[in-house]
Amino acid sequence: MKFFIQSFLLHKEQTDCIIVGVFKSCKLTISANNLDKHSNGYISELVNKGDIDGEIGRTLLLYNVPNITSKRILLVGCGKKNDFTFLAITKIMKNSMKILNKISIKHIIFSLTELDTYNNIYWFIRQTISAIKKQVFKINIFLKKDIYLNSISFNIIDKKLFLLAEIALKHSLAIDLGVTSAKKLSNLPPNICNPLYLSLQATKLSKKYKDNISVTSIDINQMKNLGMNAYLAVGNGSKNKPYMSIIKYTGKNTINTKVIVLIGKGLTFDSGGISIKPSKNMHEMKYDMCGAASVYGTLVAAAELNLPLNIIGVLAGCENMPGGNSFRPGDVLNTMSGKTVEVLNTDAEGRLVLCDVLSYVERFSPNIVIDIATLTGACVTALGHYVTGLFSNNEDLVKNLEKASQQTNDKIWRLPLFKEYEQDIYSNVADFSNVGKNGAGAITAACFLSQFTKKYNWAHLDIAGTAWESGRNKGSTGRPVELLCQFLLNISNCTKY
Ligand code: BES
Ligand code: MN
Ligand code: ZN
Repeated sequence: MKFFIQSFLLHKEQTDCIIVGVFKSCKLTISANNLDKHSNGYISELVNKGDIDGEIGRTLLLYNVPNITSKRILLVGCGKKNDFTFLAITKIMKNSMKILNKISIKHIIFSLTELDTYNNIYWFIRQTISAIKKQVFKINIFLKKDIYLNSISFNIIDKKLFLLAEIALKHSLAIDLGVTSAKKLSNLPPNICNPLYLSLQATKLSKKYKDNISVTSIDINQMKNLGMNAYLAVGNGSKNKPYMSIIKYTGKNTINTKVIVLIGKGLTFDSGGISIKPSKNMHEMKYDMCGAASVYGTLVAAAELNLPLNIIGVLAGCENMPGGNSFRPGDVLNTMSGKTVEVLNTDAEGRLVLCDVLSYVERFSPNIVIDIATLTGACVTALGHYVTGLFSNNEDLVKNLEKASQQTNDKIWRLPLFKEYEQDIYSNVADFSNVGKNGAGAITAACFLSQFTKKYNWAHLDIAGTAWESGRNKGSTGRPVELLCQFLLNISNCTKY
């Protein structure tokens, strides 16, 4: 699907459909009003008769409107004037796409741009394309239907806004490629997407983006030499051996040469191991690599956006299986940091893999480390499916992540890492135990990780509730790729919006 930024004489355009809006007050938007005048009040008459009100998501498709060259006009409800939100755009685009996905509709002119949210054309375009792309992905993948629509032109009335609109379009397409790459990778079944497969996908990035990206893959022998015994223990029960991919993105014209590290939990399947999970919904544990997929997608977008930053993405690929070689409850593991861990539950494997990766990345002297992990069921209990859990040891990092979250509507909420929680991961045979007692499972897991992140500014995103959707239309959401991309865009100063 192609997108264009243009300026139109609406009533004279030859196109399959023009989208314009009507408010709750029954007032027409500027573009709708313009078309109404040319059609001698045809549109306002329908509105006055009550054929459509301005309720968000309402639609009315009009054919052969007098004096209008376009084959159709789609009138959409836009809610209250000056109260145009993210949710509104999503709903409007969802309903419009359903109506417009007909074989004979190939090109549309989208002329709601004058409603721009926060009076900001940049965000209006970003949000609209994001909403359209989500809908397109759903139709393609879940409904297994083709999208007939092949081009959308945004009608920008004020020519001064062209440049900003073009930048927004460029950013949207780059970020969408990242989101879509992450979704596709995490939707793969676990018999295909195993740790080796994950590392091969990472390697492919160095071919596609050879000027900016180089990839190295760390196998079990190298992990043994590095002393990554916690990570190795988790992978021991599976015949699919662990691989850790290091994706190094080197931007051009970097002002700040300090490195940002993104670490993704990449359990291509988490059966729980010897502490095996109940069989109901166990299939969903193929999504336990969504953190790694989101890091992969974010690096795709970073390369597409040509960000002037140095980023290292780590995909911590591993499979947690029961077997004769599995690690067991009761084992004591010597982590790469030198600290020891008593395993009380082999299903709390994510933190074991991550703690060694968190130690490993110290060698890059990073300024910022963010890990992204489907870490705990407890985070789903605490925050549900709309909001990602955030934990951090640095206030500035929290502020920047929260800002990016608000801009993209990729929601996060901070949970505390008070010192008190450390007693909950106490062990009398090792430095820590791998499960917390006394509840707060998302926090005790993060608290465990925080024991390995003292050397840098760190944030942990628990995406257990947000990385995928269950049920009939099950599938990865691609979260939090938009959040991470926006965070990177903001710190690279590409956007001043
Ligand atoms: N990958 C799971 C967390 C998870 C569970 C994510 C359900 C999404 C939905 C993780 O490895 C896990 O099993 N965590 C355990 C930890 C517990 C044993 C301390 C959990 O949350 O139950
Ligand atoms: Mn687990
Ligand atoms: Zn897991």
